Amino acid sequence: MSEVILHVEELCAGYGPIRALRGVSLTVREGETVAVIGANGAGKTSLMRALSGLLPLSSGRASFLGRDISRTRTHALARAGLLHIPEGRGTLQSMPVLENLRLAWEIRPNREPFEEALAKAYQRFPRLGERSEQAAGNLSGGEQQMLAVARAIMNRPQLLLLDEPSMGLSPLLTVEVFKALAELRDAGVAILLVEQNVNRALQLAHRALVLTHGEFTLEGESAALAKDARVMASYLGLSPEAVA
Ligand SMILES: Nc1ncnc2c1ncn2[C@@H]1O[C@H](COP(=O)(O)OP(=O)(O)OP(=O)(O)O)[C@@H](O)[C@H]1O
Ligand SMILES: [Mg+2]
Repeated sequence: MSEVILHVEELCAGYGPIRALRGVSLTVREGETVAVIGANGAGKTSLMRALSGLLPLSSGRASFLGRDISRTRTHALARAGLLHIPEGRGTLQSMPVLENLRLAWEIRPNREPFEEALAKAYQRFPRLGERSEQAAGNLSGGEQQMLAVARAIMNRPQLLLLDEPSMGLSPLLTVEVFKALAELRDAGVAILLVEQNVNRALQLAHRALVLTHGEFTLEGESAALAKDARVMASYLGLSPEAVA
């Protein structure tokens, strides 16, 4: 079995009196895609923020590639190969598309040549190529989400943390974004994905965990969980039709 690259043990974090994460433990192996699914307010975004240095841990541990990252800053994590694409996309709004992509490429040392990486990103999302000189903030919501995923293509992290990549996207664009994510997965990028679209998440991920009120309550291989729509629905507080 491949090596564990992310190791999280009994992690707790929150906002003052609000305990958003109540002792979560998980591992992600090299090249593995793991989905975290859960209802609104379950703590999914908080988990991503805690792992990328944006939300302080109140207790517990997290390590990436064997190094403690409990207090590591976001930028240092990105340089080390852990890239977080936040909910709401995280692009630099006043900067042109091309410069956003260049920055994502520059963070990582020893990347493939810039022009090659850029060609791949624009091939996957031709609309971005057409809007190369436009400020990211002037793109439509869907185009900004494309740009967020294109940053991951440029950066080629060892582990990608993705928060709700399908949020606000049309069904057609959701398909495109998930195709791009499947390509990253197949190229060996490990992905920890937070997603409310259970079907999409389970199709992409090898394994999934259900987060309920800051705790993991169910875990399994995606294929097995997908067959168990009713169980999933009850854990997520959804109607069975929503996950069928
Ligand atoms: N900045 C904040 N200040 C105070 N409480 C917060 C803050 N951000 C989140 N919370 C609370 O922490 C809990 C977890 O929120 P979080 O955003 O992690 O959930 P989520 O699973 O990502 O939800 P969603 O599916 O709506 O994105 C919720 O109870 C939320 O109200
Ligand atoms: Mg969220």
